Amino acid sequence: MTKITLPPHSKLLAPEFTFGVATSSFQIEGAADQREASIWDTFCAQPGRIKDASNGLVSCEHIKHWREDLALISDLGVDAYRFSIAWGRVINADGSVNKQGLQFYIDLVDGLLANGVAPHVTLYHWDLPQYLEDQGGWLNRDTVARFAEYAEVIGKALGNKVAAYATINEPFCSAYLSYEAGIHAPGHKNRKEGRQAAHHLLLAHGAAIQVLRKHAPEAEHGIVLNFSPCHAFSDAAADRAAAELAHAYHNLWYLQPLLKGSYPDLTHVLKADELPDIHPGDMQLIAQPFDFLGVNYYTRTVFRAKNGWFSDVPPTEPPLTTMGWEIYPQGLTEVLTQLKQQMQGLPPIYITENGAAFPDVIEHSADHNNAENTVHDPARIDYYQKHLLAVDDCIKAGLDMRGYFAWSLLDNFEWAEGYSKRFGIVYVDYTTQQRIPKASALALRDFWRARRAQWQVAEAL
Ligand code: FCB
Repeated sequence: MTKITLPPHSKLLAPEFTFGVATSSFQIEGAADQREASIWDTFCAQPGRIKDASNGLVSCEHIKHWREDLALISDLGVDAYRFSIAWGRVINADGSVNKQGLQFYIDLVDGLLANGVAPHVTLYHWDLPQYLEDQGGWLNRDTVARFAEYAEVIGKALGNKVAAYATINEPFCSAYLSYEAGIHAPGHKNRKEGRQAAHHLLLAHGAAIQVLRKHAPEAEHGIVLNFSPCHAFSDAAADRAAAELAHAYHNLWYLQPLLKGSYPDLTHVLKADELPDIHPGDMQLIAQPFDFLGVNYYTRTVFRAKNGWFSDVPPTEPPLTTMGWEIYPQGLTEVLTQLKQQMQGLPPIYITENGAAFPDVIEHSADHNNAENTVHDPARIDYYQKHLLAVDDCIKAGLDMRGYFAWSLLDNFEWAEGYSKRFGIVYVDYTTQQRIPKASALALRDFWRARRAQWQVAEAL
């Protein structure tokens, strides 16, 4: 596959729909010496935590190369760029503002606007300052107030220049993977902690959204959740119940409090001391109106029953990505349709992340005077094509889809997987920091540019 196309009347082609590319701070920035340490620095320094024993100290050196990266973004013909702010690059351990760090994000936002690209900012994409983790991190209720203070600094500095603010990226990961499954920083393994961290993350969302609205009344405000349809391994009643439990535990646990002000009732499987501590007024703070739901979608998950609980069954049948994830585009339409049926009041949706890691190889040009090195990644082009059609299907199914962001602009630090998994549409040579657009970047660029050209034709008529 070399091209991306959509049916001529697809709503995705209209100017109202937002297309963009996405990144996150810890995964690309580097320049660790200019910020406070985060829980991911600590985690990376622990032997055995990261598959290739790497870290985020240098990464893509985006702080140094951001103008070049901005040029890449602008060249793609996207409407928007989603990035996250490193909390520890903005707020020092003593609570003072790191002026140089904050200025970086102000310059980035101004640079995007000067290039006609709308900034979509995420405040928290997992890189909690270590100084807060030292006080208990997301298990400490005070972290909620610290997050609101940080949101105030960002809201004041960037205000209405930002088109959309997302408070938290994937609380499932920062709670479940981080405090319950031990896979992400800080690497704890405790069910009660997972539930408590989730509650505090959602509270932090509620507190921050109020502050952000005050300082950026014209911007859209929301949160980003990750969803995966939960399928049963077999038709056996126990497996079906396990898949249903996984859906409640992994998907609804984060969406239901936002929309209904309650957690799914799992008291039949969770012990009383595994439930989060909830103070009066908490659920109201969490459940206040928000303008958009960001959805990160990658794959589906299959579950079977195990010891009264659920256990995921890793896929083995191709096509799989190098993450071992099944390519399952229809799952995007399926899970969103299911959530719309289950939950009243679903706000407009942006797909804030979607993409795939493949074993990309760089093909060096035989002609040494010609710097045209390329990466042929037809499987990634095919992945994008199929998922864009799935977004189109969501619209046809009555979902209010507002945008789509490809994950990711650049190859980057893929958390516990290190640099071994390449999700970028732009290849990064980590030894030279050279950026090389892959064939998928060119296919998306052609698609995005053709879309814009069409509006110009329409305008001229
Ligand atoms: C998501 C994360 C993002 C990236 C992709 C592959 O869960 O939000 O940072 O790692 O997965």
